[in-house]
Amino acid sequence: MSSFWSGWIIVIAVGNILACLWLIWWTMRKRAGEAATGDVTGHTWDGTLQEYNNPLPRWWLWLFYGTLVFAGVYLALYPGLGGFKGLLGWGSHESQYLGEIGKAKEKYDPLFAKYGQVSVADLATKDEYKDARDMGRRLFLTYCSQCHGSGGQGSRDFPNLTDQEWLWGGEPEAIKASITNGFTAEMPANMLGDEQSAKEVANYVLSLGGKPHDAALAAAGKEKYAACAGCHGEDGKGMPAAGFPNLVDDAWRFGGSEAAIVESIVKGRKGGMPGQAHLGEAKIHLLTAYVWGLGGGTQPAPAAPAADATPAAEAAPAAEQSAPAQ
Ligand code: HEC
Ligand code: HEC
Repeated sequence: MSSFWSGWIIVIAVGNILACLWLIWWTMRKRAGEAATGDVTGHTWDGTLQEYNNPLPRWWLWLFYGTLVFAGVYLALYPGLGGFKGLLGWGSHESQYLGEIGKAKEKYDPLFAKYGQVSVADLATKDEYKDARDMGRRLFLTYCSQCHGSGGQGSRDFPNLTDQEWLWGGEPEAIKASITNGFTAEMPANMLGDEQSAKEVANYVLSLGGKPHDAALAAAGKEKYAACAGCHGEDGKGMPAAGFPNLVDDAWRFGGSEAAIVESIVKGRKGGMPGQAHLGEAKIHLLTAYVWGLGGGTQPAPAAPAADATPAAEAAPAAEQSAPAQ
């Protein structure tokens, strides 16, 4: 708040209190509690009704004083006088909001932390961890469903998390990395100049993946694909770790038809998923288990336990883990 507005508010608040005091003084020229004098104000209604000019009843006056004292104490303790923060330093954000968040953290963090010790595969499959899956589902509904859909089924431009096709890998660690870091991958638009070349290269990409394509167009596109190899690799397998997608598998973010690939090439693509690191490791662990459980049908069970699990306890079950039954 600027000092002008702060001063303005102080003047109005203090001015109001002083005005009330003055009003009391003014009406008190007759002392409170004094016996009625029989004076009349001179106002007459309906011909005969007249108004006595009596002092205020004492109890009423004390109530009035009470409100003024309350106002003074309140304004001294709590924020109310412009920029003055009050002697208690109370604030709706600092004290109330952050305080409540703090209490919730104290209550839930140990719960989350407990599950942090359990491998993703166990969380996703074992009966005893049903509660953890419920938590994961609720976290997903809160933080992820606006993009990925309430069941993780995705939609145009937002990947389906329930199928077995992963853009960035379906192992627990890969999913965890996807959630934590998000994506800001960007593919430059219009690198080939014209649409005909885009069509040729699209067919070459399809041929690399062993999919139906036009052989003549693909042959013409082979050389032009050099412009793409730097990112997507000579073989089209990309470098998922660096954010360059595989073009020869069946997991398409933007579609794998000739037309969709041409569109990717001509218009460029800019993926976007905000990284979720702010949720903290414990919640991300539950989310990973939930997502892995949704789509992990054919995913290999984790060879190694999560980094924070105790190796002795986890290594043995991990080896015989099978995929979650969905
Ligand atoms: C603002 C929209 C948005 C939100 C919110 C969002 N995502 Fe995503 N997510 C995306 C997009 C877009 C991609 C694809 C990124 C790409 O390929 O460029 C993606 C990719 C992923 C992937 C990788 C999928 C694969 O096939 O490899 C996972 C896993 C994932 N998200 C999980 C989550 C989880 C869990 C949350 C909630 C904590 C979440 N996302 C929140 C938009 C979002
Ligand atoms: C500078 C690196 C770079 C170059 C060069 C590049 N790409 Fe990409 N490409 C990307 C990135 C990054 C993405 C993912 C964008 C996203 O997730 O939003 C992508 C996405 C795509 C997609 C969409 C994949 C899907 O899953 O839907 C296609 C198709 C594609 N590129 C084809 C090509 C072709 C063909 C060329 C050569 C003309 C090319 N790219 C050149 C970086 C590159």
